[in-house]
Amino acid sequence: MPEQRKFRAIKGTRDILPPDSALWNWFEKTARGVMESYNFGEIRTPIFEDTELFARSIGAETDVVNKEMYSFRDFGSTELEKYYWMLFDVAPLDDSGVRQNYTERLDEFISLLETACHDGEIPRSQENARAINGLRTLCRQARQLKDPLDREDVTRIAEHISQIVCGLDLGPSTTLRPEATASVVRAYIEHGMQMRSGDQKLYYIGPMFRRERPQKGRYRQFYQIGAEVLGTSDAPAIDAELIEMLTVLLERCQIEKYTLLINSIGCQNCRPAYVETLREKLREPEIFSKLGADSRRRVETNPLRVMDSKLPEEQAIIEKLPKISEHLCADCREHYEKLKKELKLREVPFTESPRLVRGLDYYMRTTFEITSPILGAQNALCGGGRYDGLVEMLGGPKGIRGIGFALGEDRFIDAIQEAKKIHATRTVDVFVAWMGQQAYPTAVRLARVLRGEKHTVELPPGEMKFRKALERADKMGARHVLIIGDDEIASDMLSIKRLADGKQEKISEEALVDYFRGAR
Ligand code: HAM
Repeated sequence: MPEQRKFRAIKGTRDILPPDSALWNWFEKTARGVMESYNFGEIRTPIFEDTELFARSIGAETDVVNKEMYSFRDFGSTELEKYYWMLFDVAPLDDSGVRQNYTERLDEFISLLETACHDGEIPRSQENARAINGLRTLCRQARQLKDPLDREDVTRIAEHISQIVCGLDLGPSTTLRPEATASVVRAYIEHGMQMRSGDQKLYYIGPMFRRERPQKGRYRQFYQIGAEVLGTSDAPAIDAELIEMLTVLLERCQIEKYTLLINSIGCQNCRPAYVETLREKLREPEIFSKLGADSRRRVETNPLRVMDSKLPEEQAIIEKLPKISEHLCADCREHYEKLKKELKLREVPFTESPRLVRGLDYYMRTTFEITSPILGAQNALCGGGRYDGLVEMLGGPKGIRGIGFALGEDRFIDAIQEAKKIHATRTVDVFVAWMGQQAYPTAVRLARVLRGEKHTVELPPGEMKFRKALERADKMGARHVLIIGDDEIASDMLSIKRLADGKQEKISEEALVDYFRGAR
């Protein structure tokens, strides 16, 4: 017998089981309710997208793009991929058996490539056509090699094949989404949503993927609920309403311990000068020498990213760096002042955080985060901000502004559990204890009737002794047991036992639906 391998969830991923999943469902339902009350509509985008979409939106120098993306080549077919990796390395062709085997595989690979090109699974480009021709010629040459072999010939052919295979254009790389703003903007542009009337207010719920070091509150597959507003206006009231919506959700979840941090990180007019000031400061030898390798590189490539470094030894340096709030242009300052006024009008308390730049490149002006001390090290419940240039940067129409946020569902659930105010559980309304084959058809029929009335009903698939059935119902936390045995069938009356107080009564089948409607 081969050894039985036990499979486990992959590092950084986890299963969410009942009864915990009830709280997840409660939270998602509550979040949908809140967002829909603000007139947001749901958007569902694919879980994987072109890698370039994320690289361009989030920024090549961010941790997300630089270190955390799950990217892969989509070969269009598993077989093609298998042969590709087989032929990727230089093959030893000096043994005639190996040679025979190898050329057969190469032949197979070439015809798969042709089909993939024809079907558009990989680019139908001139380079690929040339590569396929080249492989054909080399395959013929490999087959014609005669023993004793000329070593130079063999090496030349083997290396050339591997070179062509490595250089094939397999089309764009694909990435599991690390966040959804880029996808929403892509969808907005793709479907010409600017033609629809008014601002597009969209929300999404779903898994995201980042290859981070797993710890409590930080996963490689985690869940976000996010909302985005896209349209021509950048009125601070939009920013404030979005933030207000988040605070309403926090209130519904009865999470009281949290801080809303806000900042403005300027626009394309004022930020370049600030970035230069920051760069100059970071280049100063006594500062530069204390920076880690990532930050040193970023001083030249993207100094703003130094601000969101998580390295403990860099925090004291970051504290003393120039603040962007002191370098805002008049328009950005005005926008920020109006935002604060709007938040006060809505009675949303906030704390200004002049160093809150957020870890993604697409932001401009408003940035915000909500943190909670009940979460421990991973204390960010959610984050968001304005990204007015993103639509245009991704090839969309000019003048479309955007703002949004995403909250970490895993962390919200932790916070709700820590706050201990909401207890979402699923309850079984009726456990059907049926005894005897005569009772079974009635049990099946009545279970269906009650389920049709939206009650949760457990119908055991096999007959159980009454005591066992009662025990099972009790363990499940069922509220009622509907008893159908020989007596009930003979008398045409059913018995109902209420488990909270053990009270049992007889009832006719006709009265059953009303009884349970009343028991809700
Ligand atoms: P973000 O700050 O990268 O922003 O993520 C938002 C939230 O997702 C975080 O505050 C955190 O609660 C949660 N989160 C992030 N990474 C993890 C992880 N590895 N494990 C568990 N939770 C995590 C964005 O994603 C932006 N797209 C937000 C946005 C929308 N900005 C504008 N529109």
